[in-house]
Amino acid sequence: MAKVIAIYPGSFDPPTNGHLDLIQRGSKIFDELVVAILRNPDKAPLFSVTERVAMLESLTGQYNNVRVDTFDGLTVDYAVRVGAVAVLRGIRALSDYEYELQMALMNRKLQPELETVFMMPAEKYSYLSSRLVREVAHLGGSVEGLVPELVEQNLKGKLDPAYKLSEFAELDEKGSGGRKSKGRKKS
Ligand code: PNS
Repeated sequence: MAKVIAIYPGSFDPPTNGHLDLIQRGSKIFDELVVAILRNPDKAPLFSVTERVAMLESLTGQYNNVRVDTFDGLTVDYAVRVGAVAVLRGIRALSDYEYELQMALMNRKLQPELETVFMMPAEKYSYLSSRLVREVAHLGGSVEGLVPELVEQNLKGKLDPAYKLSEFAELDEKGSGGRKSKGRKKS
């Protein structure tokens, strides 16, 4: 019997525990799941595509039916290229539904044979998004429990230089007799 292949497309900038939860669920129902990172030239990502591939490969290493790849162009064209019959997407809350429905129907218009399968991540991740993780991390908040430890470490590394610069600015202000700025304290 032919293998049932699905793609799980997205930006994954960065991968969150919600993504990992969905990958785990998807790996149970498809013979093969391809986590497909969009190479989007219009967006300036926090993590490069290479960094996201490395993170996702490391985070999905325990599943022997999951692989990580990148694509550009239309998702449906990529799905056809890898022989997928389904696109896996997560729906967290009602607010996701409209956008996801639009995408699923547009993909169906473009490629009627390709099905979109929606799965729900665990409720504890229902408010979680890569955008919020980036924002919280940027502003010095804790993302513990929201992303895998590897991603947490990489976020710290990625944001540290900006952080050091802000500390320099703070020192500079103090040195020149200026008022101490309210910068973040290094943890
Ligand atoms: O993680 P994201 O950013 O919500 O993923 C969105 C993604 C990558 C699935 C979507 O933007 C996409 O499919 N882009 C590829 C271009 C395409 O096929 N556009 C038409 C979709 S209806």
